[in-house]
Amino acid sequence: MRLHTHPASPFGRKVLVAAHELGIADRITVEHRALTPVEPNAAVVADNPLGKLPTLVRDDGEPLFDSRVICEYFDELVGGGRLLPRDAAARWRALRLQALGDGMMEASILARYETVLRPEELRWHAWVEHQKLKVRRALDWLEQRAEEELGEQAHLGTITVACALGYLDFRFGADRWREGRPQLARWFEDFAQRPSMMATVPAELEAA
Ligand code: BEZ
Repeated sequence: MRLHTHPASPFGRKVLVAAHELGIADRITVEHRALTPVEPNAAVVADNPLGKLPTLVRDDGEPLFDSRVICEYFDELVGGGRLLPRDAAARWRALRLQALGDGMMEASILARYETVLRPEELRWHAWVEHQKLKVRRALDWLEQRAEEELGEQAHLGTITVACALGYLDFRFGADRWREGRPQLARWFEDFAQRPSMMATVPAELEAA
């Protein structure tokens, strides 16, 4: 399988963490792609009309996107029920947590684009602040429910939240998300030690 991704992409990290957790990372050839919403990458667009990362190309040549679909595909490849629990209550919890983590990553990336990509005279500071506010509310929700929502198990929900937190550290370290959120900080400290997380720490794309 081939994976179009970027070493800084939290969504790309999510699918790679999933692959490591399932023991199939060695079946994936990672292809780093440079792109922004205003500079699409032709190789990615050829496999995904949305031009978004991550995009997986299966061994039979069929492309899959987005990260949710790719993770579920990986889970099915190894028999199912590992990233997405079979038990209904646990599954809905994991899916809700995934939605929260995905939303945190989306809001963070939008804030990042607005602050570094958009020409300075066009930047909308209130809009950035509201993206960041969404993330802060999600962090507070996680802090309040850390005990019942988070745990040692790596599933779609915990992996996604961990990648969202890793992205905050990578791009928004100055915002100090850990302050006032000791339970979440402790959970992440442990989760970040997993080999799957250590193998996928975000990085800048090196020049070709
Ligand atoms: C980043 O540089 O922060 C980034 C790169 C690719 C996708 C998302 C974010």
